[in-house]
Amino acid sequence: MEKLRIMGGSRLEGSVGISGAKNAALPILFATLLSTEKSTIRNVPALADIRTTLKVLEALGVRTSFDENSHTILADGTLIESIEAPYDLVRTMRASVLTLGPLLARKGEAKVSLPGGCAIGARPVDFHLSALEALGASFSIENGYIHGTAKQGLRGGIMKLPFPSVGATENALMAAALAEGTSIIENAAREPEIIDLSEALRTMGAEIEGAGDSSIAIRGKASLRGMNHTVAPDRVEAATFLCAGLITGGSVETKGIAPGFLGSALDTLEKMGARIERMPHSVRASFSGSLEPVSLETAPFPGFPTDMQAQFMALAVRANGQSTIKESIFENRFMHVPELCRLGAKIRVQGSVAVVDGPCALTGATVMATDLRASASLILAGLAAKGETNVRRIYHLDRGYERIEEKLQSLGANIQRDFDK
Ligand code: EPZ
Repeated sequence: MEKLRIMGGSRLEGSVGISGAKNAALPILFATLLSTEKSTIRNVPALADIRTTLKVLEALGVRTSFDENSHTILADGTLIESIEAPYDLVRTMRASVLTLGPLLARKGEAKVSLPGGCAIGARPVDFHLSALEALGASFSIENGYIHGTAKQGLRGGIMKLPFPSVGATENALMAAALAEGTSIIENAAREPEIIDLSEALRTMGAEIEGAGDSSIAIRGKASLRGMNHTVAPDRVEAATFLCAGLITGGSVETKGIAPGFLGSALDTLEKMGARIERMPHSVRASFSGSLEPVSLETAPFPGFPTDMQAQFMALAVRANGQSTIKESIFENRFMHVPELCRLGAKIRVQGSVAVVDGPCALTGATVMATDLRASASLILAGLAAKGETNVRRIYHLDRGYERIEEKLQSLGANIQRDFDK
């Protein structure tokens, strides 16, 4: 089993390039199912989840190729030979549920294994199904599979989301793009990844107004061209590197991302005492001598992103005082807490609130990654800890961070990928 071995204490300084956003690339790749033509997608991060997505697309009949050096994917959806997203792929990546909307729109039928939960929560998909039912789809759940049909094709309708679910908004957008007539998504998610998916769909000829707002209008088309799109930068990766600079008392610039993508996370870093420099296509965060405690609650965009909660908790361990962090999106997203405590952090969990007593001196230990963003928070803590930290089960990490140890090494970190004896 692979692990990351970190010798803490180096101050991180310098600039690092930000990869394309995993959470934009995944729905964008599934959107290629909507066209019988060839698509080109650029700035795709070379990640495990992307490779899994390509396996799902190939299982459905899409021909794909991925040049990982140029980060470019070619996808040819001329022939869809299957409408089934198989269990053994869906169980490794629950985002495969995003095949539902495109398959129903393109083929009038879809069979997708129920994604099941994951470490951070039950992750139901009821909002996805009710949105697609508003377009005329009907569903049955049998043998662990969602079976959807729309024999008369999808018709435009009003999809009212009970919660601004990112995935449900994405399935709704993709299905409505080929539905007959106009559709409205009410209470839509407003994340930057929704805007990026909308931009990719518009290169296919889709007519979409309001992506990024709570209400999105889509005028369905009879067919769509091949996609030609460059994926937006990964705001979660960028925030992780900015935190890496701050937690080590250094200064890191993340290149290839405009400050607007980072929104409330930058405001929070400033409240914690970081010096933030906003440039047109990059952001720098510099340690200013001390970190102040923070009180934050995760929320749908433009609120504080749940995907940055674990990383900011690691930073709060070094802050001069007590921080409170409330996780309001997922029911079990504090699994990094006991692992951070193994490194010397003082954190108490009370329901959905974690109370962090800082500043705490951290000392290296062997810790275990439990999910993607928890892995990142353990690396941040290891970079600030005295001595050696070994982070195990880093397959979680490789799902969402491209070459993280190389990028951290370029900033001066003493970190190596190693194998458990
Ligand atoms: C996306 O997950 C991201 N994944 C997650 O990132 C991210 O944490 C999440 O959005 C919130 O921003 C991808 O984009 C691939 P949701 P998604 O639907 O779409 C509940 C990472 O680390 N819900 O907005 O699954 C759900 O249980 C990952 O990169 C329902 O109850 O998130 C959760 O509590 C982790 N029924 C809340 O809504 C539904 O039908 C938000 O989920 C759908 C969701």
